[in-house]
Amino acid sequence: MSDSRRVYLDNAATSFPKPDAVHKAVLHYLRDLGNAVGRGATKTGIEVQRTVDQCRLRAARLFDVPRPEQVIFTFNGTDSLNLAIHGLLKPGDVALTTVWDHNSVLRPLSHFAATGGHTVIIGDDGRGQLDIQQLERELQVRSVRLVCVTHASNVTGIIQPIEEVIRLAHEHGALVLLDAAQTAGHLPMSFSKLNVDLLACPGHKGLLGPLGTGLLILRKDLAEELVPIRQGGTGTTSEQATQPTTLPDRFEAGNHNAPGLFGLEAALKWIDEKGVAKIQLQEEQLAIPLIAGLRSFQGLTVHSFADDSPRVGVVSVSSERVDPQVLASLLDEHFQIETRAGLHCSPMAHEALATKVLGGTVRISMGPFNTVDDIDRTLEAFGQIWAAL
Ligand SMILES: Cc1ncc(COP(=O)(O)O)c(C=O)c1O
Repeated sequence: MSDSRRVYLDNAATSFPKPDAVHKAVLHYLRDLGNAVGRGATKTGIEVQRTVDQCRLRAARLFDVPRPEQVIFTFNGTDSLNLAIHGLLKPGDVALTTVWDHNSVLRPLSHFAATGGHTVIIGDDGRGQLDIQQLERELQVRSVRLVCVTHASNVTGIIQPIEEVIRLAHEHGALVLLDAAQTAGHLPMSFSKLNVDLLACPGHKGLLGPLGTGLLILRKDLAEELVPIRQGGTGTTSEQATQPTTLPDRFEAGNHNAPGLFGLEAALKWIDEKGVAKIQLQEEQLAIPLIAGLRSFQGLTVHSFADDSPRVGVVSVSSERVDPQVLASLLDEHFQIETRAGLHCSPMAHEALATKVLGGTVRISMGPFNTVDDIDRTLEAFGQIWAAL
């Protein structure tokens, strides 16, 4: 192919490119400032603190969270999920999750199950969503402490019926932890209106910040129940031997990822100005022709379920004719198209799709910088590969 421009379609792993303002903000911090967050009152230290406060405020606004201190900075989505899961669950508790969830939920819950807890996995409904009836039955027969549910599968992009999950869980006295890794920045979302208890997401995927950033948002009245999993310096109440009880310090021990948060602040400003609804529409308008085009290749399965399945811009394909790793390598080497092959840290999702035995799928995932041309080039590349098979 003559066009050697790189086509990045692995935004579900981490987004690329980042808005220019993100590069500038990280560089400004590294080159001109360099102070630790909340650790000094120099002029540059105050600027650092202000930007980090602004980042928290922007995140609170984006997710419609009443108070900025309900937003806890973490280091990635996994870190947020671990804090929520290990901070809430005690031996003897029961947790539910689903086959569509990621190893960043499944593995902490396996550890929890191996150390005196009970984890129940809710199956799929055959249409890309969790089996809501099974969830309801489990909630009826067990005293469930926490339901951990992904907002959208990182393998299929199918959005889960989270409003229904939250309603049922609350009816039965369970808390809900929403893994918004694949929806934050891709779909408009209100923490308050969803009435969810905790929301975890990375800062480096749809929120367009640098790697090394993440958020855990929690209901304010959960702050005491959630036990910090790390203790340490906060730059506040240093005379006390114990962790401060106030938010966000209770959960932010040790130095922050200041360059990352500068980048995230700039990214959240960019998203605010562009509008998440516009990003959602743009990604939807790319996913529709991509799915339609991919469906035309004989022997290629597009794991997209029904045309009207609610989705984000994540699409998985598999074929008995070609190994997913080989297909992704061909796309990369010959067409400069970057996708992701394998199990995507979601082994149960691939069991549900019957793609685990094939070595998984090739996942194509979009971000706000992808274009119609990227989709055309991807379909053309599939055409050439299919012709050569
Ligand atoms: C659904 C889902 N949850 C959680 C994570 C973990 O996020 P992070 O890579 O920031 O730890 C990912 C990342 O791939 C994901 O796709």
